[in-house]
Amino acid sequence: MFLPVDSSASHTDLPRHCTFSESDWRILAGFWHPIAFCHEIADRPVPARLLDVDLVVWRTAGGISVARDLCPHRGTRLSAGRIDADQLICPMHGLHFDPQGACSKIPSNPDQQARVSPRLRLQSLRVCEKYGIVWTCLADNPAWPLPDWPGLRDPALKRVFVPPNTWAAAASRHVENFNDVAHFPWVHKETFGGSEEDRFPSYDVEETPYGLMFQLGYDEGGNRFPDDVPGDSRHVVYTYQLTWPFSTIIIIQPNDSTYVQYFADTVCPVSAHETRIFQVATDTTGAPDEDFLIAESLMINDEDKALVEAQRPEDLPLNVRDEVHIPADAMSVAYRRGLVRHFGLGRNVVS
Ligand code: FES
Ligand SMILES: [Fe+2]
Repeated sequence: MFLPVDSSASHTDLPRHCTFSESDWRILAGFWHPIAFCHEIADRPVPARLLDVDLVVWRTAGGISVARDLCPHRGTRLSAGRIDADQLICPMHGLHFDPQGACSKIPSNPDQQARVSPRLRLQSLRVCEKYGIVWTCLADNPAWPLPDWPGLRDPALKRVFVPPNTWAAAASRHVENFNDVAHFPWVHKETFGGSEEDRFPSYDVEETPYGLMFQLGYDEGGNRFPDDVPGDSRHVVYTYQLTWPFSTIIIIQPNDSTYVQYFADTVCPVSAHETRIFQVATDTTGAPDEDFLIAESLMINDEDKALVEAQRPEDLPLNVRDEVHIPADAMSVAYRRGLVRHFGLGRNVVS
């Protein structure tokens, strides 16, 4: 019920009820993570959660700001407050905060000219708006760059934003599934999956400056591309580019057409076993059919969701000997190894 008088003795920057090991939390806190779509942040503060940390996201004339969702006065949630004249206003005693997090007004002060304590300051975070996504980083100095997705930053190509969804699964489980092709004929029967008899050729996974990539051909069932090529199935080349730790773009190219679709998937590790998914797509028509692309993506995600949520253990095994692999798992194995080798995830060592 009470914090000790010497509260500095128990101080930690780790969130209360942290669901990650301390070591993994500290490593993941060093990356940029997506927390919202830019278009979701309008005229009121919005709550988000990243790595078990509650955040508030709000928009002012200068752009989007992010801070811990904690009023420095009496600790209530700022996301339940409001925005007025570019100030974030706490719902409890109405303290005002400017976009940089400094307290600009204490409405109940008898002397409105009195100096405001500099300690009345939000714990503001770095923020970046790119690809229509709000990215933030819990550390002062991000350890890894944002994904570089040329297809999605071409202003000539209209972007489609798939409504975000939250899965009761680890971010790494989602990423591994997103980069898995051998489940297509089994899981995506109703959408684009091909024949259960299909064999998957061996493929090489390449280390890149930003993560991993691989390329694979596949005979999709159906014909989902708006390029006027007739046929009941299409041979497609997928190029997967993964940016550590949780962002992937698939460049999808039917081999009988010049059409290209760019489909990016980046996820927020809300907690160790909860993941919010942000997907952005476009294509070389420059004007993708938004309704179709959203409906199709939601259906595909839905086909995956229950299976990924059911995977056990919930935590991705980072010792590759803990599960048995088949040839189609080359990407999964490289992903697991890379998370350990490059970043020390899963080692549970606190420096
Ligand atoms: S708790 Fe926010 S103003 Fe008092
Ligand atoms: Fe899938």
